[in-house]
Amino acid sequence: MTTPTCIYRPANYLEPTPWEVIFGRAAPVEIDVGTGKGTYLVREAQRNPDRNYLGIDRLLVRLRKADAKVRRLGLTNVRLVRLEAGYFVRYLVPTGSVAVYHIYCPDPWPKRRHQRRRLINEEFVEALHRTLKPGGEVRFSTDDLDYYGAVVRVFGCYRGFCELSPPPHSEVAQTDFEALFASKGQSIYRKHWRKFD
Ligand SMILES: C[S@@+](CC[C@H](N)C(=O)[O-])C[C@H]1O[C@@H](n2cnc3c(N)ncnc32)[C@H](O)[C@@H]1O
Repeated sequence: MTTPTCIYRPANYLEPTPWEVIFGRAAPVEIDVGTGKGTYLVREAQRNPDRNYLGIDRLLVRLRKADAKVRRLGLTNVRLVRLEAGYFVRYLVPTGSVAVYHIYCPDPWPKRRHQRRRLINEEFVEALHRTLKPGGEVRFSTDDLDYYGAVVRVFGCYRGFCELSPPPHSEVAQTDFEALFASKGQSIYRKHWRKFD
């Protein structure tokens, strides 16, 4: 018998579906925004079978690679969604329902005229806050110092998040892009926030 795909096609694109329906069980939900080939997502899902993991990406070719890993390992706690992440978080994630958002190496759009395409802006941070559980976390990394500064400023202006100390380097599980940038000698900038109300 072939393992079924974990790529999830929402039946309703206008309003959220409960996580219990999507995963078939109740468990804390972690979302990897821009999951790419899903290496990080799959590793975390394997390490924490008592938690549910959702990976979002707009590139189907990458999600298919993630799906193949999940099926090979027989993981039942992973779902993948092919959608624009801003839309998904704003409209399809239930309010107060997410334990952790992972946002690692989002496209930095370094040219000034492209910066409005960046995923993380005030509206997105507001949607993260609304959809997190009290005490929920956002974990962010980038190799782009300018984007890092902009993201830290947006979170700093938003009441309702406090900064956390970043974990020690030795405890951080690298994503594919973090490993790629590190192999080229580039720095990775990290920040975590917690929702406090
Ligand atoms: C630079 S890669 C990082 C992948 C992975 N997080 C890592 O660190 O290895 C960015 C990923 O985000 C996806 N992406 C970029 N903007 C997106 C958006 N608005 N909605 C969904 N996916 C997006 C891209 O397709 C790509 O797979």
